[in-house]
Amino acid sequence: MNNKYKVVLAIIIFAGGWIFGSSNNEAPVITSSVGGASYEGGFESEVTVGAVPHRSAAGSIHIVSPGDSIQAAVEAAQPGDTIQVMPGTYSETVYIDKDDIHLVGVIQNGARATLDGLGKLNDAILYSGNNIIIENFRITQYKGNGIMGQAGNNFEIRNNVIVDTGIYGIFPQLGTNGLVEHNVVSGIEDAAIYIGMSDNIHVAYNEVFDSVAGIEIENSRHAIVEYNNAHHNTGGILAFVTPGLPIKTTEDVIIRNNFVSDNNTPNFGAPGSIVSGIPAGTGILVMAADDVIIEGNIITNNKTAGIIINDHSFAPTITMDVQSDPNADRTMILDNVMLNNGYDTIPEVVAVALTELHIGLVDIVHVGPSNGSCIINRHRYRTVGIGDYSECGFTNTDSIDSYLLAGGAQPRVIASSERGEIAYLGVCAGCHSYTGRLIGPSVQVIQAMYAGNPQGLATYINAPIKKRENFPEMPAQNYLDPETQLAVAKYMLQVNN
Ligand code: HEC
Repeated sequence: MNNKYKVVLAIIIFAGGWIFGSSNNEAPVITSSVGGASYEGGFESEVTVGAVPHRSAAGSIHIVSPGDSIQAAVEAAQPGDTIQVMPGTYSETVYIDKDDIHLVGVIQNGARATLDGLGKLNDAILYSGNNIIIENFRITQYKGNGIMGQAGNNFEIRNNVIVDTGIYGIFPQLGTNGLVEHNVVSGIEDAAIYIGMSDNIHVAYNEVFDSVAGIEIENSRHAIVEYNNAHHNTGGILAFVTPGLPIKTTEDVIIRNNFVSDNNTPNFGAPGSIVSGIPAGTGILVMAADDVIIEGNIITNNKTAGIIINDHSFAPTITMDVQSDPNADRTMILDNVMLNNGYDTIPEVVAVALTELHIGLVDIVHVGPSNGSCIINRHRYRTVGIGDYSECGFTNTDSIDSYLLAGGAQPRVIASSERGEIAYLGVCAGCHSYTGRLIGPSVQVIQAMYAGNPQGLATYINAPIKKRENFPEMPAQNYLDPETQLAVAKYMLQVNN
């Protein structure tokens, strides 16, 4: 037998092992995606339009024109007022620490009110009040956050264009009942849209691209992510648990009807940060999150895989937390269109694939233990590691429109004794986790440095100086009053997970 025939024979044997060795030799279970049962789990949904309760009376309108300060208007405003910002360029940090303010950019002939950080300022808009609306701005060249919510409930962040603003584009942290829609966010070193430690969230009709993570649902519950376009990021849409944060779970997330394509941008996250571990070419990632439904998405051209489901031990940049369940349980994959994913995947996925004699494209890969996961029409995808997935008992989530709360959540009222804790949860935990590196060093490292010296810590956060190579700069927390700075310093020095 000449060599040519040996090669052909080897291929036939290999292909035979692949076909007969996998479970795909049984007749596929074909489920019609028309009709069928809807998911019956999840948050008891209440249909609403918007997350901020309607005002019963119109407050005053404050108009800000170029040359004026937006912050001065915020300070003059009463709860119930609206601030309208005329087109033009404003270079400032706006901090809203009162309730019921609507901050609205006026768009005239396509010209927007632009917040420009000039590559020097840290944050564009921070809010800690309840019932806040922020819409129509263009935000660019900040180093920290575009729009960050710090423990405010009931918020709407809509129709903003955010370009190249450092670490997080839109980042509501520790908020209940919020809507993030119709924003265009690009060029972000961590997450374009980052929902952190929040509940009852709706993220829809956003376009996110050229960022490390497109949309991130992190340590949050009852979230719907739909009709977004996540393309040309390192990872498109992610639902996961970051260990070492005070809230330990991500669960009840519906990711549906999104475009998730070409997320192959090389990872440019700060080395050592959690997102720096996302392999370029990740479409949707579910890590240690439970009850995640993936339905109706168009997932194409993501070179590592279309959908990756894994536990914490698979992630190179994670420090484990004994209080966080590391596994992704009850992932539910309904009908999606998946094409040309996993064409140039990572060695870790190749290794798992080889145990199933799978070669070639990978639409879906599950690594690590999992309980209660299910899928329909699995024959449509190239799959690895989902042999223990059962057939889902439902085909759609049509009965669920929204996880928002009718009438809104109770506004958060912060007693002065809680100021340190809430600032820690609402601000610091966005970048510091207890156990490992998030954006900044771990809280354990900080505790070792500042033991017995809360005043020293408070002085640092008021005006941080650059200390570590390979870390971004820490944004100054000088918008917090001195008592809150000291309270949060004391709180940070005594947390134990
Ligand atoms: C946007 C991300 C971010 C937020 C929010 C943030 N930090 Fe940091 N923090 C960092 C980074 C990055 C560093 C490392 C900076 C360096 O080494 O140059 C850091 C470093 C620190 C340090 C180490 C100081 C030292 O002497 O080495 C302390 C203390 C600290 N942060 C406290 C806080 C507190 C308290 C809060 C909340 C009020 C907070 N940080 C919020 C990103 C953040």
